This record gives sequence, structure tokens and C-alpha cells, in this order.
Amino acid sequence: MSYQACISCGRKYSVDDVVYTCKECGDILEIRYEYSVLMDKLKRSSWKNLPLSVWRYRDFMPISGSSKIISLNEGGTGLYPCRKLGSILGIKNLYVKNEGENPTGSFKDRGMTVGVSKAVELGVKMVACASTGNTSASLAAYAAKAGLSCIILIPSGGVAYGKLAQAIIYGAKVVQIRGNFDQALKMVVKLSEEHKEVYLLNSINPFRIEGQKTIAYEICDQLDGQVPDRVIVPVGNAGNISAIWKGFVEFRTLNLINRLPKMTGIQAEGASPIAMAVKKGAEFIMPIEKPETIASAIRIGSPVSWKKALRAIKDSGGTAETVTDQEIIEAQKMLARHEGIFVEPASASSIAGLKKLLSYGEIDRDEVVVCVTTGHGLKDPDTAVKYCEKPYEVDANIDSIEKILGLSSVAA
Ligand code: F0G
Repeated sequence: MSYQACISCGRKYSVDDVVYTCKECGDILEIRYEYSVLMDKLKRSSWKNLPLSVWRYRDFMPISGSSKIISLNEGGTGLYPCRKLGSILGIKNLYVKNEGENPTGSFKDRGMTVGVSKAVELGVKMVACASTGNTSASLAAYAAKAGLSCIILIPSGGVAYGKLAQAIIYGAKVVQIRGNFDQALKMVVKLSEEHKEVYLLNSINPFRIEGQKTIAYEICDQLDGQVPDRVIVPVGNAGNISAIWKGFVEFRTLNLINRLPKMTGIQAEGASPIAMAVKKGAEFIMPIEKPETIASAIRIGSPVSWKKALRAIKDSGGTAETVTDQEIIEAQKMLARHEGIFVEPASASSIAGLKKLLSYGEIDRDEVVVCVTTGHGLKDPDTAVKYCEKPYEVDANIDSIEKILGLSSVAA
């Protein structure tokens, strides 16, 4: 019922083949289904009675029925109406899908529960990824749960501390590369090609995308089958925006929804090959050799899923925009201070992008917009502390505390 297919030449591969790029043309793969068969299966399934989570949608996954699922209870994240922030930005219907609520604090867990379950189904013993931090934190956790050994390649000095701590505590073998994410990804792809026992779990692996498409499914289910006009997503390696679009398209194909949202990708100004291509109307991206941004999670110059992402944006009638580091930090504070949602800088780029797109009329103020916030704020505490007001420090007596707080002292 499901198979892997090349996104360019369409060559098919079985879901049991370990293959990351097309042997014919070298392009990346996606999972496809025979949707009429899936539709029949869904009619007999009670999936709608299951709680909101990635595995509510097991019927929509390329995982064999008898497989052992490696789960840490991922998905089922909140979709928060943000009326206060919305009114400040001048938009009536703003929602935030807060992916920081996943077990290791980012949306990557949705992909890893499927990817690592697939790894176990295939009988592999060793998994690997390159990462700006969240993928590695997530893979390390799921590998630990599954009893697999885990290799992680990260750019030295380029990973937020919380994420590094996660990868280490879960017991992964962490290798820091003197280079950036793009170089680390090249290395891990090579490693998995030369050592067949190493199973690659970056988003080039299409099983990852299958887990992440559940963000779209959940949004539809949380809105009782309504579809937002627009979904805004931070973009780095470009797997997630592609995954979310795939989810919406599949729900539409299965007649579970009747329209599609405009996919809108946001990149940091110093790491924006996809936004640049969209602005120019180009069909290819120009990789950026030295990507730079405070949002280290999306500090990526050569996104592997660029073609899928450009298609998602174009086919949905969406767009892409860049935001500066300053706009990202400002958006991060706004979301925390008006809605009580603390996200990491990369995640806040979706809010910063919304603000910018509203400012020049690209987004209509009547649109129903969902911003996906991809990772928890505590992933990168250093950045938050650096850009916020410093705490007061006083002697341990009530007078000095009252003085600093501007409260008049009560006479004894
Ligand atoms: N937001 C966060 C918090 C991320 O960690 C990432 C990617 C993205 C957005 C972008 O998603 O790559 O699918 O376009 N982080 C990867 C990592 C690259 O290694 O953790 P994307």
C-alpha cells in the first residue's frame, strides 16, 4: 500500500529498501500511498476515537502492522489562539502550534518516533544524524529508548547548550565537526553510504517526514476539520515545511478537508537560500556558503529538501520571507510576554515573519493564520538571558527589595 518514490523521476522503491537518494537521478525520495486503498482502510478504522498524538494516525504511516513502535508520547501539542498577540500585530485569528511541548522539546520527535520505529523494523543497530541540535537531541532519546547506538555529528560551537546537554545525557556518541551544519550533513551522508550498518535519520530519510506531516493532521483535527488560510513555518533544512504540506495534501486527497492553506516559509536573513529563490521566482536555490544567524537551529546554507519546499510554497500559493536576528529576538519576547509561550529563536522567526508580511500587506488581516513554533525556549537559555533585562541583585533585607520594586514601605 505504501512505497518510496523519487520526487523527480518517480522511480519506485519498496519501503523495506534502505535508500536515501534515487539510484537513477540522485534526487530525494518521498513516501507515497495507494490512496484508494488507504481510504478503504480508514473507513474500517477507529482512528478518530484515539487521543491527539502522532500514533492516532498510525493508519497513515508506512510502518508494518506488527512493528514495535518506539514512542515517548510525541505529538498532541497545543494549538493556542493568541488573541493578545494577534491584536498587537493587527490580525484577528492567530494560532500558535507549539511544538516545544514534544518529549524532547521540538517537532523532531514526531519524525523520530516514526524513523526509529522503522529502524527497529529494519533490524538496524546503529542510527546517525547531523544536526544543529534538535534532531540530535531527539534521535539520541529515541535511540536510547530503542536500545540502538547513536552517532551524532554537530558543528563545533554552533549548537545551543540545552540541545548539546540532551544528546550527551541520552548517551549518544557526539562528534563535533570543525565546520558548519551543511558540512556535517555531507559527512554523515557519506558515513552512511560507506558503512551500510549506519542508518541515517536526517530528514533526507522520508520516514522522518511521515511523522512530521502529523502537524498538519493535528491542526485540522484541532480546528474541527477547518483549514487555516495560512501556515507559517521556520525553515532550515526545509524538511518540516515539506512534511506539513504533505500532511495537508493527504488529508485533502482523503476528503478529510476541502481546501489547502498557503504555506509560508521564514528564514533568517543570513541563512535564506529558499526565501531568496522564492523572491526571485527561481526554480533553484543558490546555497549560502557561510550561513549566519542567532537562530542556530536554522543556520543552514544548503537545505537538503529545497526542492520539496519550493514546490510546497508554489503549489499552495504561499510565499517566503526573511527576518533579521533583531526581529527574531523581538518576536521571541512578544510571544513570551503576551501569550506565555517561550520558544527558541528559530521558532520565533515564524512570528517575526508574520509581523513583517502583515506590515506590507502580503498577509491579509482577516486570514486565519497558524504559526508553528518548532522548539522550546529552554533549548537555548543563553540567548534568552543575553537579550533580556538583567535580574536585580540586592542585600537580603525588605527595604532594599521594596526600593528596587518601587513599593512604599509599610510603617511598622
Ligand atoms: N526550528 C527548529 C527549532 C529546528 O531545530 C529546525 C531544524 C527548524 C526549525 C527547521 O526545520 O530543517 O525541517 O526546515 N533543525 C535541524 C536540526 C536542522 O538539526 O535540529 P527544517
